[in-house]
Amino acid sequence: MKKIGIIVGSLRKASNSQKIADNALNYYKGKADAKVIEIGHLPLYNADYELDLPESYVHYKKEIESFDSFLFIVPEYNRTMTPAMKNAIDVASRPFTSNKWNGKTVLLVGHSIGKLGAYGAVNDVRKVLGFLGANVLMYPEVYLGPTKDLFNEDGTFVPASAGFMDDVFSALLK
Ligand code: FNR
Repeated sequence: MKKIGIIVGSLRKASNSQKIADNALNYYKGKADAKVIEIGHLPLYNADYELDLPESYVHYKKEIESFDSFLFIVPEYNRTMTPAMKNAIDVASRPFTSNKWNGKTVLLVGHSIGKLGAYGAVNDVRKVLGFLGANVLMYPEVYLGPTKDLFNEDGTFVPASAGFMDDVFSALLK
């Protein structure tokens, strides 16, 4: 089965990104080996660490290496990606000779509480991962919003979003 790593760009408990990730995990059950990769514990990147990588970095980089494909759930802070997501990308990109993003397939899903769907953040993630050699899918382009219309009370997708998102998630199985 294809291995799919899910990167969730928000660290807060009631995160909409996490709800989307939970729906993705549910979708991939029996179809792929999908898992959310923890990023909240990674110290803020500091080039001095390259002399002696923290254990958390070593473990995280090995984990990134072990996945074929990635689903990035992208919230937007001030028209770009969150610091947690940028840090997770940076940590796995260094030292540049062991950049782990090169050749990986990535699907981006943006979402926002308004209608713009984190367009600015998604396209910044696309630029950064493209620079690092990832194959960032151009289609489907996904900008979900407003998030209040996406979910049932229990965090599962309402039928309209479920149908659309099944198609989106299936892009990583092809
Ligand atoms: C935001 N938010 C936000 N939303 C947006 O659509 N565009 C933006 O530029 C910003 N900027 C922004 C900055 C900061 C510092 C915060 C804390 C929030 C709103 C934010 O995207 C929204 O709360 C999402 O729901 C965050 O994702 P999670 O935590 O729900 O996964």
